[in-house]
Amino acid sequence: MNALTVPFGVSSRARSLPPLDGKGFTVARSQGARLFDTEGRSFVDYGMAMGATLVGHAHPEVVEACTKALENGPMPGFPNDIEEAAGAALARIGGARVTRVTFTTTGTEAVHLACRIARANTGRRLIAKAVGGYDGWFDPVRFGLVESAEAERTNERPVKEDTTLFRVNDIGDLDALFEEMGGDLAAILVEPMLGNTGCLVPERSFFEHLTRRARENGTMIIADEVMVGLRRGVKLVSEDLGLMPDLVTLGKAIGSGVPVAAVLGTPKAFEVVEDGTVPCFGTYHGNPLVASAVLATMKLLEDQSHYTRLFDWGAALRRAVEDAFAAEGITAITTGFDSVFSLWFTDKAPRVYEEAKAKVRPEATKQVSDSLRRHGVVGLPSPWGRYFISLAHGEAEMEITVNAFREAARDLARSGLKG
Ligand SMILES: Cc1ncc(COP(=O)(O)O)c(C=O)c1O
Repeated sequence: MNALTVPFGVSSRARSLPPLDGKGFTVARSQGARLFDTEGRSFVDYGMAMGATLVGHAHPEVVEACTKALENGPMPGFPNDIEEAAGAALARIGGARVTRVTFTTTGTEAVHLACRIARANTGRRLIAKAVGGYDGWFDPVRFGLVESAEAERTNERPVKEDTTLFRVNDIGDLDALFEEMGGDLAAILVEPMLGNTGCLVPERSFFEHLTRRARENGTMIIADEVMVGLRRGVKLVSEDLGLMPDLVTLGKAIGSGVPVAAVLGTPKAFEVVEDGTVPCFGTYHGNPLVASAVLATMKLLEDQSHYTRLFDWGAALRRAVEDAFAAEGITAITTGFDSVFSLWFTDKAPRVYEEAKAKVRPEATKQVSDSLRRHGVVGLPSPWGRYFISLAHGEAEMEITVNAFREAARDLARSGLKG
């Protein structure tokens, strides 16, 4: 029986780490790229709050902006003077095409609202989401997740409530979706990189085909950038990779750890918001505290040199990780971006969900993540997990991490698992 008041001691199960060597893992403080546990031990962090900070934990400029907002009153409950400024700053991500913004508190709500906007625009109900994609924890889209029964390929396309599934990088499957269900299809919902499927990267030709088919069919495209937003620069990751969304969901990194998310959309897609057809509510949406966090984050990211450094640092880490395993005769690669990547014990990146499922190595991943933790590095232990890098990861963190990966590779080689 669990005797804790909060079941498991955490309100999101994704957050808990199992005890290791008889010690639990409870964080007392997070700062920059480091976590400090309740025993005072320091860890280099690659969970980065599930990607919810790109600038680093407790960045002084974000803290200052939020402190000021708290002192001014975090919830006036009437229009505040900073929400529009934060929206305009955030809209820079959408460039000249995706220019409208409305805030929510969580990524889950942003996806929910984006689906509602797509339905109001098209007069259709059905949303097709990517197999393996995670688009929040609300019932309709909690479907087709990695290792779920419905993610398996069968002759019949699974449907739950108003949601169905399609397979990324499988043009035949996408064409079949439009043929089978095109008349009902309000929107395609897809992460521009399937971060929750071990950083599986959609091919440009697939995204271009998807964009064409959706346009021809009058189906909207929702790019779920809650996880990857801002991780390739102040621009849409989807557009960078060949997908032209009507709606984009953002969250995590935009608030640097303060709970805020948003839906971005084209002016056309947002007409139904502007004319009141789609009501937007939410006590906390766009309050001064979260708007201040967004504004401070966006201001920080105006400096392009941050990104240059981040990408160089991430690329160097990826090389060092692969080299550490190669030195022990273990084949390992990383997939994804230089600001967020996954580790695979294989010589070729998985292209489609089935390949990914065949290539995950839960035992080896656990072994590596335990070794890393023993050597002062903590990340997400799932075999589908990923390493998030922040602007705060510097030289000292690189040294600790590379050393920890060398030890982890040695441990893995000794264990006989070899990936
Ligand atoms: C791609 C994606 N969409 C939506 C969500 C849900 O966001 P939240 O946890 O803020 O509700 C997540 C969370 O991990 C996500 O990765």
